[in-house]
Amino acid sequence: MQQKEQAEILKAKGVEPCLAVVIVGENPASKVYVAGKIRDCEEVGITSREYALPASTTQDELLALVSELNNDDSVSGFIVQLPLPSHIDEKTILDAIDPKKDVDAFHPINVGKIMIGDYDFLPCTPAGVMELLEEYKIDISGKECVVVGRSNIVGKPQAMLLLHKNGTVTVCHSRTKNLSDVTRRADILVVAIGKGEFVTGDMIKEGAVVIDVGMNRNDEGKLVGDVHFESAKEKASYITPVPGGVGVMTRAILMKNAIKAAQLNQDK
Ligand code: GUN
Repeated sequence: MQQKEQAEILKAKGVEPCLAVVIVGENPASKVYVAGKIRDCEEVGITSREYALPASTTQDELLALVSELNNDDSVSGFIVQLPLPSHIDEKTILDAIDPKKDVDAFHPINVGKIMIGDYDFLPCTPAGVMELLEEYKIDISGKECVVVGRSNIVGKPQAMLLLHKNGTVTVCHSRTKNLSDVTRRADILVVAIGKGEFVTGDMIKEGAVVIDVGMNRNDEGKLVGDVHFESAKEKASYITPVPGGVGVMTRAILMKNAIKAAQLNQDK
């Protein structure tokens, strides 16, 4: 069912899905992402609230807002946009979010639930990648899946979700030796390292499915992924472009999670 319909069904039952988005400081990329999330809410029929706080906000002030949102019954779920200014400890903030309102699935309880396959929310980008693979009927079971990047936001949960679908998963990172030997084994290659056009066609097996999670600006200011699209597309059977690839899926999953949060919290 479309998210718009789900939102309408909830509203008919007297449940008003509401997503709050907290952003601290002036990170230009974060501002663009947050504006997109607010727009998506409007499109789907989810009420949104944006809290744009100055870069000078203290950790205690941000913790106070998190506590307020945790306790506000009119907010079904919320996110704190990352990265945070360096004087705020990200982990302290994420740990303070009520796991039932944690639509990013960054809280340790939700991370642990994902590990054992018993979850309420999945993290938006890795779940978006999985939906993309499903949509294109790409079989994961028994396939060599290589994830490049080991971040808590993408690489680690991505590996777990591929494993849940019976992929044979390898995670590569900055200390991996002979990286291209490993990437060339991949039937499904997911790249999330934040380095513009790092993975080139010669690192890809003929016919591989290539998912590019990167979003970088090159020297000319152009948006590019972590994969060098022009050389990679000669090898890949499927490849996601940047922009216009994984990003839209990430946003769709956030809306899905916001509706799920409204459903979860309706009986409180
Ligand atoms: N920064 C980059 N990606 C994300 C995301 O998915 N959620 C949040 N909160 N911050 C991010």
